[in-house]
Amino acid sequence: MPEQELYRKFANYYDLIYQWMDYEGESEFIKMVVEDYKTSEGMDLLDVACGTGGHAQYLQDSFNIVGLDINHEMLEIAQEKLPGIEFVEGDMKKMDLPHKFDSILCLFSAINYHTTMDELEGTFKRFYEHLKSGGVLIFDLGFCTENWEEGRMLVDAVVQGDLQLARISQSRLYHGVFNANFVFLVKEDGKMDFEIDQHQIGVFPTSEVAKILEKTGFENHIYNGYNDLPWDKKSDERPVFVSIKK
Ligand SMILES: C[S@@+](CC[C@H](N)C(=O)[O-])C[C@H]1O[C@@H](n2cnc3c(N)ncnc32)[C@H](O)[C@@H]1O
Repeated sequence: MPEQELYRKFANYYDLIYQWMDYEGESEFIKMVVEDYKTSEGMDLLDVACGTGGHAQYLQDSFNIVGLDINHEMLEIAQEKLPGIEFVEGDMKKMDLPHKFDSILCLFSAINYHTTMDELEGTFKRFYEHLKSGGVLIFDLGFCTENWEEGRMLVDAVVQGDLQLARISQSRLYHGVFNANFVFLVKEDGKMDFEIDQHQIGVFPTSEVAKILEKTGFENHIYNGYNDLPWDKKSDERPVFVSIKK
């Protein structure tokens, strides 16, 4: 994975850009589905691609959390916000941790940082190996074939005090991969900064993702966003997978 500027140079702005995220509401959903489906005994939770710990802050009272992310700068922010949680630097595609967990999360489109089904299957196998029997994997497919809108403009912008920042991109798909060139503009203390931030984002059919999870040994429940409703492919909501290691 290329070292993406948003998660490195601009990591300090991540929480600001995504201040609209409902981490608290999503965390309530996570607690609910873990309660409903998990049959393993413990409350050990691995938050893969945890970023700045947005979910961990609302889950830390209910779980023993380890956060993992590939970007050091994101982890530094998470660690400062949540000193009681263990954060480790690592790549989900090569993850090999010394213990197993009762729940694994991979949230806010982080699973889309796979560009082929084979690569995705490799990571699902790693998740499976890191789960206890009866454990639960929860992830969302922020980008999937069903909710893809070719040519759509994506703009996240924030103005706060002296700071103005914007991230702009347009959705264009080439052979199932969104080669996202996010234009990143920052003006702070009168100084301008600018980057083209490259992300390679895999866009897969939800049914194909479900099939490779089943092949790996998971039993799937697919929700309509972080809501207690089955996924409806005609809705705008992202599919949220709750996959059980039987
Ligand atoms: C959109 S952010 C989501 C962060 C967090 N889960 C949230 O909900 O705010 C994607 C995160 O995935 C991380 N990431 C991307 N590829 C990764 C990989 N191969 N292994 C671990 N983390 C990865 C990035 O560093 C970034 O923190």
